[in-house]
Amino acid sequence: MSGPICIFEEEQYPLIRKAAALAGEILHLVGERVAAGKTLLELDAFAEEWIRDQGAVPTFKGYMGFPNTLCTSVNENIVHGIPNDKPLKEGDIVSIDVGVTVTEDFNGKPFKYVGDNAFTFPCGEINAKSRRLLEATNEGLWAGLDSIKAGGFISDISKAIEQIAKDKRYGNVQEFGGHGIGPEYHCQPFIPNFTEYFKHYPDDEIKPGMVLAVEPMFNIGTSAIKKHKDGWTIATADRKNSAHFEHSALVTKDSVEIITDVRKTRDIFKS
Ligand code: MF3
Ligand code: CO
Ligand code: CO
Repeated sequence: MSGPICIFEEEQYPLIRKAAALAGEILHLVGERVAAGKTLLELDAFAEEWIRDQGAVPTFKGYMGFPNTLCTSVNENIVHGIPNDKPLKEGDIVSIDVGVTVTEDFNGKPFKYVGDNAFTFPCGEINAKSRRLLEATNEGLWAGLDSIKAGGFISDISKAIEQIAKDKRYGNVQEFGGHGIGPEYHCQPFIPNFTEYFKHYPDDEIKPGMVLAVEPMFNIGTSAIKKHKDGWTIATADRKNSAHFEHSALVTKDSVEIITDVRKTRDIFKS
């Protein structure tokens, strides 16, 4: 993630909202299709077709060489899993991460808008340990989102997420985190899910016009990770389950809009 912090103009807000809403919608359409016997490649093909039917483009496909529309990370896989043809099983937890790019004219020039979000879906009935992990990681995400305000700092988000992971004793992945969103997708600032980061790197003020993707990854066991031989998939070092949730937030002068939250996920595990 390099270059400057990206700031959108007010006239661009409707366009970034549109990309984010598409990303939110397709994420949950995929989630509704998570079931025992389904393969990740089937979900991927469905998502790609749906996104293209909307006149949009799957952000991840080809991004730094990633081969697919969805990142699909099952059980001990944390993020960046490549869809495969292995059928899902009852009890799996399935992280789906999707980005949608919409290109629209802005001041006479084509400009790209990206919506990015992720959710870990249960495949059928899951055990109590996995269910608590999903609840806690979603809670971590919302604690992070609730701490965003113009004039505040990126470290407020990190602190809120870290607190939930600590309270509930989950491994809190450090090597990956949230980020700003700009026309070429990932953008400054990096949003770590832990505060130790700021002993080594500067903090940034949160400003109107920023779009921030917040994405905690909590593990049942160790926070340590390992990378698969495929060069992409990140898994837990102890092979215990991991969960990942993400929303994109648009910071305006007087509010923070969770622009990917078309399915209202804050209380989704409370019933
Ligand atoms: N997990 C990343 C995010 O949400 C995106 C993956 S980029 C890809 O920021 F290339 F792996 F697709
Ligand atoms: Co994402
Ligand atoms: Co992201």
